[in-house]
Amino acid sequence: MKKIILLCCIVLVIVIVYSCKKNVSTSSLGTVSLSLPATPDIYYDSTFLSPEFSDSLNKEATLGRVLFYDGHLSVNNSISCGSCHKQSIGFSDNVALSKGVEGQLTKRNTLAINTLTFNSGALSSGLANLFWDGREDNVFNLSLRPLTNHVEMGITDPGTLPAKLAALPYYNQLFLNAYGDNTITVDRISKAIGLFINSIQSFNTRFDFYNRGIQNSMTAQEIYGLNLFNTKYNCATCHNISNGFPGGGGYGSINGSFKDIGLDPNYTDLGRGAITGNDTDNGTFLIPDLHNVAITGPYMHDGRYKTLGDVIDHYSHGIANSPNLDPLLKDANGNARNMNISEDEKAAIIAFLNTLTDYKMLTDTKFSNPFNIK
Ligand code: HEC
Ligand code: HEC
Repeated sequence: MKKIILLCCIVLVIVIVYSCKKNVSTSSLGTVSLSLPATPDIYYDSTFLSPEFSDSLNKEATLGRVLFYDGHLSVNNSISCGSCHKQSIGFSDNVALSKGVEGQLTKRNTLAINTLTFNSGALSSGLANLFWDGREDNVFNLSLRPLTNHVEMGITDPGTLPAKLAALPYYNQLFLNAYGDNTITVDRISKAIGLFINSIQSFNTRFDFYNRGIQNSMTAQEIYGLNLFNTKYNCATCHNISNGFPGGGGYGSINGSFKDIGLDPNYTDLGRGAITGNDTDNGTFLIPDLHNVAITGPYMHDGRYKTLGDVIDHYSHGIANSPNLDPLLKDANGNARNMNISEDEKAAIIAFLNTLTDYKMLTDTKFSNPFNIK
C-alpha cells in the first residue's frame, strides 16, 4: 500500500514538473529564477502596430515586468513597485496609506494602475494626467518618480541603479533582448517599466461585455444602478465610463480632470493646487479610474473610506461646502448638494460598480510576479 502511494506521488511530481516546463520557460539564476511566458506575449494591442514593432515593445515590457517586481529597485532591496501595486487587487493597495522602505508611509492612497494611456490620450504625448495631483504627464518619465520623489523606495539618485542592476545575474539577457545590447541606463529602466505598466489594460469586465451587446451579462439591478449613475445622479459627468473605446473600456475622466468633491470644509492637502499654484485648483484631485473599483478600497486620495457604501454615503449626504466644490455637487442655492440616495438605489449603484471588475486582468500571468525566490 505504502509503495503504491509513493509511486503515485512520484508520478504526480513528474506530471507537475512536466506541465510547468511546458508552459513556462524557467531559467535558473542562482537563488532566483524567473518565470516569463515562453513566447513574448502581446502586451500591446497590435492592431495599429507592425509585428516587428510590437515584438520589440513586448521585449521591453517583459524587462519592465521584471523591474516592476524587483526589490533591488529600492535602497535596501525590500520594496518593489509590486509591493504597493498588487495585481490581485487591481494594482492598488488595501490600506489607506502604503508602507515604503523602513515602514515609511506614503502621503496619499496608492492609485490603481489601469489603462493609463487610454484614459490619458496617447503613449508618450505628455497629455496624461498621472497621480492624484497630475504632477506627471508622461507615462515614461513617471516610472522613476516613485523611486526618487517619494519615501516609498528610498532612492535619491537613480544614477546609482544601472551599476546595481548590472551586478544581478538576470538583467544582462533581459536588456540584451529588449535593446540589442546589455547597457543599462536610467532611461532604459524607466522606459521599460513605462511600457509594462502601460500594457496593464482592461477590457474584459461584465460592463464591457454588456456594452458589446451581450445583454445578459448584467442583471436588472446592475442596469438600474448604471442608469442612476449615468442620469439621475450625474456620476458619469465626471466618471466618464463610456468614452468611445470600441465596446467600452475607458472608465476614467475625460482627459483626467481634477475636481473638488467636498470631502472637507477646509483643505489639509491642496492636491492639484499645489502643482499649478492656482487657488481655484486647491482641493481638487484626479477623477480616479473606476476599473476594478469594487476591490481597490480604501477610497479617495487619503483612503478615508473603507467601503463603496461609505463613498455613496458621502455623495448622498456628506458633501461639505468646500471652497472649490464642483458645481455639479451644489444645489440651486449654491450649497453642498444632498443627493439623498435611497437604500435601494445605493445597493443598485454598488451592484453596478461591481460589474467593473476585470477578473482576467487580476490573474493574467502576463502581469504577474515573475520571481520565484528560493
Ligand atoms: C510604497 C508604495 C508604492 C510603491 C513602492 C510604488 N508606488 Fe506607485 N503609487 C503609490 C502611491 C501612494 C501613488 C499615488 C501618489 C500620488 O498621487 O500622490 C502611486 C501612483 C502611481 C501611479 C499613478 C497612477 C495613475 O493612475 O495616475 C503609477 C503609474 C505608479 N504609481 C507606478 C509605480 C511604479 C512603476 C513603481 C515602481 C517603480 C511604483 N509605483 C512604486 C505607491 C507606491
Ligand atoms: C464633480 C465630479 C464628480 C462627480 C459628479 C462624482 N464623482 Fe466620484 N470622484 C470624483 C473625484 C475627483 C474623486 C476623487 C476625490 C478625492 O480623492 O479627493 C472621486 C472618487 C470616487 C470614488 C472612489 C474611487 C477611488 O478609487 O478612490 C468612487 C467609487 C466614486 N467617486 C463614485 C462616484 C459616484 C457613484 C458618483 C455619483 C453618485 C460620483 N462618484 C460622482 C469626481 C466626481
